[in-house]
Amino acid sequence: MNLRPRQVLYPWHWLVLLLLLLSTSCAVAAAGTAPARTPPMGWNSWNHYGASVTAADVRHAADAMVASGMAAAGYRYVIIDDGWQGKRDTRGVLHPNAKFPDMRALAAYVHGKGLKLGIYSSPGEKSCGGFTGSAGHEVQDAREFAAWGVDYLKYDLCSFRHHLTGKSASKQVAVMKDAYARMHRALVATGRPIVFSLCQYGWGRVWEWGAAVGGNLWRTTDDIRPTYASMWFNANSEQGLARWAGPGHWNDPDMLEIGNRGMDDPDMERSEMSLWALLAAPLIAGNDLATMDAATRATLTNREVIAVDQDPLGAQGHRVAQSGPIQLWVKPLADGTLAVGLFNTLDHPLDATLDFKALGLHGPLPARDLWRHANIGSVDTRRVFGVPAFGVVLLKLGQPKR
Ligand code: GLA
Repeated sequence: MNLRPRQVLYPWHWLVLLLLLLSTSCAVAAAGTAPARTPPMGWNSWNHYGASVTAADVRHAADAMVASGMAAAGYRYVIIDDGWQGKRDTRGVLHPNAKFPDMRALAAYVHGKGLKLGIYSSPGEKSCGGFTGSAGHEVQDAREFAAWGVDYLKYDLCSFRHHLTGKSASKQVAVMKDAYARMHRALVATGRPIVFSLCQYGWGRVWEWGAAVGGNLWRTTDDIRPTYASMWFNANSEQGLARWAGPGHWNDPDMLEIGNRGMDDPDMERSEMSLWALLAAPLIAGNDLATMDAATRATLTNREVIAVDQDPLGAQGHRVAQSGPIQLWVKPLADGTLAVGLFNTLDHPLDATLDFKALGLHGPLPARDLWRHANIGSVDTRRVFGVPAFGVVLLKLGQPKR
């Protein structure tokens, strides 16, 4: 057979080629704008309001997020946690309860502030608070959320856990993967970009498969509490998990407790913010944004620390050395510098030595103190820093690459 005539490019061939090129560049553009290229930032209702949260509380949180300067500092998602769900009607459509009379209007209000709306559900029949879950209604619920204008879904295992009972560890993982992948498919099918937050407390080493089932972030531990010990427990649980985090998919040590009673000491607050930034953790505030004091506000909106968290390289930092109560943490940044945290875990001030050997560095290197917003000159080989009780010194170390 003579193939020659088919090699001629007719005008319609050019059209097909053009369409192909266009669709490829659109796909690239869409991938480039995929959600959560940096760790998501926002506020979640649970730590402050629990299941009593109302639509008015969510509006006030959105107002305060703008008024406090948090929105300008990069916080975007206003997330309604458990407690908004009502009942399903005869067609299976899930309605909000009386505390949330109009979800579309609420989403429009949040969007009108330049922010995004998050919501909560469960792969089980019931949420952790005993409200209606999405089991068997994943497609319907995803459509409903998208129609309201939801931009983020926290999907909490809870009552689904009974499906794991009596199964082998690998079967449990398969069952959880299936449940999360099902909701992910339903979200994708809506055509709306919706950040997918997996909440199943780190079970089955979720960091190994969270991204494969469409997760943009996944909790690595059980719930955080507003204590210094709980903060450290959750942060330390992420040791060794750095390789699973990166642009689009993040380890989540849970929401911030900064500003909540028990974690409202300014040095503890700076420690939590520094740890979460070093960990490239999602920064989801959980305090009352409208009534927070100036110190809490300054901590949550410190742009230099937020820049460490949001660094485009997306590397998760880790602890490189510990000497008694002093911990040294480090995170590589995209400009070739390092973020370095010196933490004092005792209840009185201590002197801590920054030892370049532990970091594999050779001095001298320029350093900037990210909490004092000050260049502190050149740091060489060993330098002693005074670190406050339960506090931190957070540095950016090195000469940025041009
Ligand atoms: C679980 C989650 C929390 C919160 C509650 C709501 O405990 O881990 O973050 O969402 O459920 O009931």
